[in-house]
Amino acid sequence: MCGIVAYVGDRTAYPILIKGLQRLEYRGYDSAGIALFNGEGARVYKCKGKVKDLQALVRDKEVGGSIGMGHTRWATHGEPSDANAHPHASMHGTFHVVHNGIIENHVHLRSELARRGYAFRSETDTEVLANLIEDVYREQGVSAELAVRLALTRVVGAYGLVILCEDEPGRLIAARKGSPLVIGVGEGEYFLASDAMPIIEYTDRVIYMNDEEVAVITPDALDLKDLYNDVKTPEIKTIKLSIENVDKGEFAHFMLKEIHEQPFSVTDTFRGRVAAGGDKIVLGGILDVMPRLVEARRVIIVACGTSWHAALVGEYLFEKYARVPVEVEYASEFRYRDPIVDEGDLVIAISQSGETADTLAAIRRVKGTGATRLGICNVAGSSVSRETDAGVYTRAGIEIGVASTKAFTSQITVLAMMAFLLGSKRRTLPADEYRELVTGLTRVPEMIAGVLEQEAKIKEIAHLYKDAPNALFLGRGILFPVALEGALKLKEISYIHAEGYPAAEMKHGPIALVDERMPVFALATSDHLYEKTAGNIQEVKARGGKVIAIATRGNEEIRGLADQVIEIPPCHEALSPLLAVIPLQLFAYHVAVARGCNVDQPRNLAKSVTVE
Ligand code: M6R
Repeated sequence: MCGIVAYVGDRTAYPILIKGLQRLEYRGYDSAGIALFNGEGARVYKCKGKVKDLQALVRDKEVGGSIGMGHTRWATHGEPSDANAHPHASMHGTFHVVHNGIIENHVHLRSELARRGYAFRSETDTEVLANLIEDVYREQGVSAELAVRLALTRVVGAYGLVILCEDEPGRLIAARKGSPLVIGVGEGEYFLASDAMPIIEYTDRVIYMNDEEVAVITPDALDLKDLYNDVKTPEIKTIKLSIENVDKGEFAHFMLKEIHEQPFSVTDTFRGRVAAGGDKIVLGGILDVMPRLVEARRVIIVACGTSWHAALVGEYLFEKYARVPVEVEYASEFRYRDPIVDEGDLVIAISQSGETADTLAAIRRVKGTGATRLGICNVAGSSVSRETDAGVYTRAGIEIGVASTKAFTSQITVLAMMAFLLGSKRRTLPADEYRELVTGLTRVPEMIAGVLEQEAKIKEIAHLYKDAPNALFLGRGILFPVALEGALKLKEISYIHAEGYPAAEMKHGPIALVDERMPVFALATSDHLYEKTAGNIQEVKARGGKVIAIATRGNEEIRGLADQVIEIPPCHEALSPLLAVIPLQLFAYHVAVARGCNVDQPRNLAKSVTVE
């Protein structure tokens, strides 16, 4: 989604902003812009398209100045266009604004400002905000900072903002509510960004702004207040990300790199948390709330997209091993319901980014109910991790490909550890089975590596089906969520319509679609539901469908049933999602490449969905 980068210091801002915008490209965007200040007024360059289009636009233009702000826009209000790209100036040109988020009462504010003589050049809510700040500034004769604070008290919605006032050059004003903003602290310079990516090559010292905070930043000082003028003390944290983490290395795409990282990312997820002998799991982030978890009467998991699929796997694991009822909710629905939640409940938010607006809202929805709120996040210091009572980081490492891959397997790894641990503490999981599961988990990385070795074969299969108009993914039990995830991966990056279904549901509708042009993935590993799934494969074959089976090595029968077979090693049924998803990720990747799609930045998608 939209990205912000800004700089104040004594270096030339332009290269820092351009590099920063490139680092933010992974978030998804449709236009880009910068504003540069050299003490004599702002120069603003912006256009529809990519950062390279912006670079072409500014070629041969003046790009001096040691203060600046940049933005990548993911359209919400108004189509992608030069006029709607950020930065936006106020009508009299006093203020320049870049903004992430949505101003919900922009229609009302726009008509009020129009009545007061303001004109607008764009369709954006951001320009409304720029004019609102200018109106307060001119009418009340206050400082730029106070004008920003007063204007923001009238705003309903979410914002991460960087603002420059032409009357007060040499400083930037930043504000946050609901949309993240990170300040990088250098020596005589500060960096601002919507996430740490543009900052990490300059400093590892960062301040995560909190909601309703406003910062006034000069090269030498940072003053932090809340909207109501109370002084706040900035908390400087050290981040561990390094620039090597954000490089594609030998891989053609970040997505492919991240798929191949999974033997290591899953290991990182359980490293130091699982004892070698398989008899102990320690999750430091939830130790303090463990008695409440053990006593929980119900688990509610809220999430979106791929994280929601991981939650469904979690449902199977928690119910089977910890014998606690689980409800998995779309965060976007849960937040607007009137859910019945009390102190007996454990509410878990799963989010790779930790910034997904709906997931964050869902966790806020249950604040004050007495329920224990946990976060399972990948990004340290993210909003979900800060707004929950406790949690477990997935430690998958930075995920740049918009299509989530390694985050999914790490989320499942965390959910498995939690389910096994709770099962053991609640005495619903016998000690020998607990040991077997934990030991099995530690062997998963080498098994994933084995599945990855079949990439050439999976690529061939992808080429066979790359022109299919539709695809169906079938699974049962704990592999049903994997079917959903396989379909999501394919549609996200190849734009082929794909659906995931519980295998038995197929005959209640989707079977009507089956013909010789429709590839049907059947997740048919040798588990207690194998015979049932094999029956569903026969139903597809009887109607001329093409079946690609994901099956357990050693199953010879399946070769007579399916058109293609991709094998995964034998493993405990509970852990099979961690292996079965790998061929589906690779299949989606190779289909997308064969179709010439932009794998890492698929159309219309954003990495972190910070608006609802
Ligand atoms: O950062 P989150 O895990 O909260 O993101 C949730 C979804 O937006 C995300 O999983 C999305 O569905 C991905 N594009 C899936 O590949």
